Amino acid sequence: MIKIAPSILSADFSRLGEEIELLDKSGADIIHIDVMDGHFVPNLTFGMPVVKAIRKYTKLPFDVHLMIENPAMYVKDFIDAGADIITVHYESDRHIDRTINLIKENGCKAGIVINPGTAVDAIKHLIPIVDMILIMSVNPGFGGQKFIEYSVEKIKEVRTIADKVNKDLMIEVDGGITTDNIGKVVAAGADVIVAGSAVFSGGKVKENIAALKAEV
Ligand code: DX5
Ligand code: ZN
Repeated sequence: MIKIAPSILSADFSRLGEEIELLDKSGADIIHIDVMDGHFVPNLTFGMPVVKAIRKYTKLPFDVHLMIENPAMYVKDFIDAGADIITVHYESDRHIDRTINLIKENGCKAGIVINPGTAVDAIKHLIPIVDMILIMSVNPGFGGQKFIEYSVEKIKEVRTIADKVNKDLMIEVDGGITTDNIGKVVAAGADVIVAGSAVFSGGKVKENIAALKAEV
């Protein structure tokens, strides 16, 4: 079973609580939360207080995607704020193995994200110790970008390794997902699908989630 993880980056920030409730009622499986610091990526979003504030609007798992420098400094705070899964960029952390262990020791699921320019090879030895690998299919920082085609190959590479060393691994894909390409990323082995603009477009959240699910 694949899971749809709407990114609240495309939500109306002035009514974030209601938007989360709407996602909950509309068939979302996971809430994807994009945290950006203006350093690791050229955009700023929100931090722990916002995660804490929206926690009361749903029981769905919070998947916190940290696009920040020094992620280890903040993981404990995000767990306290209500994160269920935290993904950390390989490129943002010199000691990612330590950070993964820190997340797990604090009772949270842990994942690693790689940018389009980072090869799967860089993280292959970490696949057995994480709950999730997130393949970025756009350069992180903004919603509404075009899907990068070679991401499909990278998903297949992760799935091949995971079949041998971590059968429970969740493989997430993030960026530019639409009804036109969801089929091929799922066929490649992704099972958690992030979608921002495709979910919120035209305000038809329920219909959009159903349309994505209908393609797989
Ligand atoms: C990009 C974020 C994504 C983004 C996806 O840096 O990590 O989660 O919101 O948005 P769409 O689906 O519009 O590409
Ligand atoms: Zn994201």
